[in-house]
Amino acid sequence: MILVTGGAGFIGSNFVLDWLAVEGTPIVNLDKLTYAGNIRNLASLESDARHLFVRGDIGDGELVARLLNEHRPRAIVHFATESHVDRSIHGPAEFVETNVVGTLGLLEAARAYWARMPAAEREGFRFLHVSTDEVYGSLEATDPAFSETTPYAPNSPYAASKAASDHLVRAYHHTYGLPTVTTNCSNNYGPFQFPEKLIPLVIVNALAGKPLPIYGDGRNVRDWLYVNDHCEAIRIALARGTPGETYNIGGSAERANVDVVTSICAILDELHREGAPHKNLIEYVTDRPGHDRRYAIDATKITRELGWSPKERFETGLRSTVAWYLDHMDWVQSVTSGEYRQWVAMNYGTRSVA
Ligand SMILES: NC(=O)c1ccc[n+]([C@@H]2O[C@H](COP(=O)([O-])OP(=O)(O)OC[C@H]3O[C@@H](n4cnc5c(N)ncnc54)[C@H](O)[C@@H]3O)[C@@H](O)[C@H]2O)c1
Repeated sequence: MILVTGGAGFIGSNFVLDWLAVEGTPIVNLDKLTYAGNIRNLASLESDARHLFVRGDIGDGELVARLLNEHRPRAIVHFATESHVDRSIHGPAEFVETNVVGTLGLLEAARAYWARMPAAEREGFRFLHVSTDEVYGSLEATDPAFSETTPYAPNSPYAASKAASDHLVRAYHHTYGLPTVTTNCSNNYGPFQFPEKLIPLVIVNALAGKPLPIYGDGRNVRDWLYVNDHCEAIRIALARGTPGETYNIGGSAERANVDVVTSICAILDELHREGAPHKNLIEYVTDRPGHDRRYAIDATKITRELGWSPKERFETGLRSTVAWYLDHMDWVQSVTSGEYRQWVAMNYGTRSVA
């Protein structure tokens, strides 16, 4: 079995569903259920004995130690994060608390557990740390894409907290020999993404006839990856990655924000004619402070060494993502209305449950 942290978030819940469909071995899923976590993403696993959900904080050393000792996972896959750049600009402390201090607590618990494992199991144990391309800073239009040797230059409090967690993971391998693997991935999109991030925000606002906000001149470029491709890359890095190594993961799909928004509008004009043309709702707003201009990932290493490459094209992936949101407006309604928060409070209270 494996222990997943943050498995009720966007990528984490896609990973849990993908893992159980493909690998099939059990998962203990530790998630605090912040506003970004949604246990209903995993409703299809309700009666699946292979999935054990535990509400709790990665920084709760006692709880993590208990879960490790009780369930004896062969790996930890660490997604739990405060993940929204805009929120990190307004309140950086929470990002340091979860992304840095929380990751440190998890590493400490993992180290103690790993040190006591029988020798044969120790060899196979992995701590897989899921990170971001934002740790590398910003590129100019003609710069080469980020590789694993690009120097770290984080620009937002979010990116700085992720960079700090990457450094701690590196240090735990170098100093204590903990078998870690780190992945740095580009922007993900797909089902179950909280509608504060660009793609779901634009879909949800367009359907409601609300403005589609675009920062600055809209020419900021991101390299987009369909979430299932990311999940597969993590599975492969876990199975075949070399301890102590880092792997960049990207979709080779660089798009300017305004082009992403215009594409969503065109798809909506086709799939949901009401309100067309949706691009009339585009509104340029004051740029995010310190907004990175361009991210691009060079994924040569993971392709060459581990045999992974993305399967989904941006155009088809975006179309199925828009279709997913159209089919799941009840999900959007429940995560944005506060009704879901009430449901969590009723079912889980404020306590950890295990
Ligand atoms: N979304 C992207 O485009 C993207 C791109 C590259 C890398 N990443 C990385 O992937 C990982 C997952 O990102 P995401 O977009 O799914 O994030 P998310 O915000 O959707 O989900 C984060 C999850 O972590 C949980 N969580 C937060 N604090 C916690 C704590 N202290 N203890 C336990 N659980 C906690 C939340 O409840 C939520 O379920 C992050 O490490 C992020 O840096 C994301």
